[in-house]
Amino acid sequence: MSRTLRNRVAVVTGASSGIGMATARLMAREGMKLVLTARREERLRAIAQEIEAAGGGAEIVAGDVADPAMAARLLDAAERRFGGFDVVFANAGYGTERGLLELDADAVRRMFEVNFFSSVDLLRLAAQRLIGAKHRGHLLLCSSALAKFTLPYFGVYAATKAAQAMVARSLRFELEPYGIEVSTVHPITTVTEFFDQAQMQAVRGHSSGTRVPQHAPRLFVQTPERVARAIIRCLKRPTSEVWTSHTVRLSSGLMTAFPWLLDAILRREARRTRTHSKS
Ligand SMILES: NC(=O)c1ccc[n+]([C@@H]2O[C@H](COP(=O)([O-])OP(=O)(O)OC[C@H]3O[C@@H](n4cnc5c(N)ncnc54)[C@H](OP(=O)(O)O)[C@@H]3O)[C@@H](O)[C@H]2O)c1
Repeated sequence: MSRTLRNRVAVVTGASSGIGMATARLMAREGMKLVLTARREERLRAIAQEIEAAGGGAEIVAGDVADPAMAARLLDAAERRFGGFDVVFANAGYGTERGLLELDADAVRRMFEVNFFSSVDLLRLAAQRLIGAKHRGHLLLCSSALAKFTLPYFGVYAATKAAQAMVARSLRFELEPYGIEVSTVHPITTVTEFFDQAQMQAVRGHSSGTRVPQHAPRLFVQTPERVARAIIRCLKRPTSEVWTSHTVRLSSGLMTAFPWLLDAILRREARRTRTHSKS
């Protein structure tokens, strides 16, 4: 049976752009109340005003998700303003298209801090509070298609996304007795500011002002709104994984079954990335 989302409360991290912003907007359109976070406060304020102007409810908490106090601040804000929360979407994250030799130890640790530890800490605290309140809820992590197979020069990023997916998949069954759903989202290449952050050397312009790598095949490039719609479907009918590309999903199974196939693809990708970063 499809669940109604009206008046349910969602906490969304990384809501100042891309997938988080598109999902927050769509959640608001479904009648959900929102607590939004990211570092860029002005952006959050503008999105919250847009939601409130349309008759919705949105609270903002600006800051870095890697701040150990952030998880509690977010959930406290939801409890104070809306009396609790039903959904947490731990989405904030970033990647760099850098090989391991180009990343120092601090850069590797920082990526795990933001992508992995902050999202897992938020889910742990959210689960504890939901259980304490005897309240059902839905926890979602924004992982990646790269949780299932890596890409050259995205190895550390892929590791953070795989680590998230592993924890979430087991958590799903640890929380089943409490009626709390856990899902992971596995976007393919999505037109967001992610690739500005990833400091691409070779990029292809997009009308939105955001960029994706020139070497990404067009077939595997999507909008953040597409991901947002899939997340809404998952909230209405919970599933363990949210995918927006059947092709990539099936390919990831094939690449696991046939490692030589993955090697051939990764060798070609590594060459393409090197060629584009030189040009
Ligand atoms: N785009 C893709 O192709 C793709 C594919 C697979 C998975 N993903 C995943 O999708 C998620 C969202 O990324 P996106 O594509 O929407 O990229 P994006 O447009 O760059 O959005 C990233 C969001 O995370 C926030 N953020 C990053 N670091 C943060 C920090 N330390 N503290 C607080 N907020 C932080 C950013 O806000 P501020 O800068 O304002 O803090 C922004 O709102 C990420 O987890 C990413 O790994 C993206």
